Amino acid sequence: MDRAAILNQLNEILKHEWTGVAQYAQASFLIEGPWREVYAGKFEDDAKESFKHAGLIGNKIVSLGGVPVAQRNEIKQSKNLREVLEFSLAFESKAVEMYSKALELAEGDRPLTIFLEDILIEEQEGVEEYTKLLRESEGAAQSATARKLG
Ligand SMILES: [Fe+2]
Repeated sequence: MDRAAILNQLNEILKHEWTGVAQYAQASFLIEGPWREVYAGKFEDDAKESFKHAGLIGNKIVSLGGVPVAQRNEIKQSKNLREVLEFSLAFESKAVEMYSKALELAEGDRPLTIFLEDILIEEQEGVEEYTKLLRESEGAAQSATARKLG
């Protein structure tokens, strides 16, 4: 295992998780109207999940002899719910990609592999959840259109 390469990738992941903390928190602050009732809590939970992952990765970086980054990337924000759901899906998909790459670099290190796989499963659940939420709102948009036509 190339320690420098894995540390570098874990720090890229950490930056992404910090981005998630800010991006999901901002989404929970900004959501207004009737959907606030549903989505403020969901986005807050997702911010907490990113924070949990950041904690796991930051501690692992130190365990491997590295220094965790304290920066994040730019967040994506919108007052349009559908756009926020699209940003969320893109965020979760990128996380899956990043953890998958880290898993390739961790090859041969069984404990690190299992550690990363556990988080990867949660990122994949995020992808599946946002995919379904976007599908659902497509269905709702279609039936709204159908009602208007009918
Ligand atoms: Fe995460």
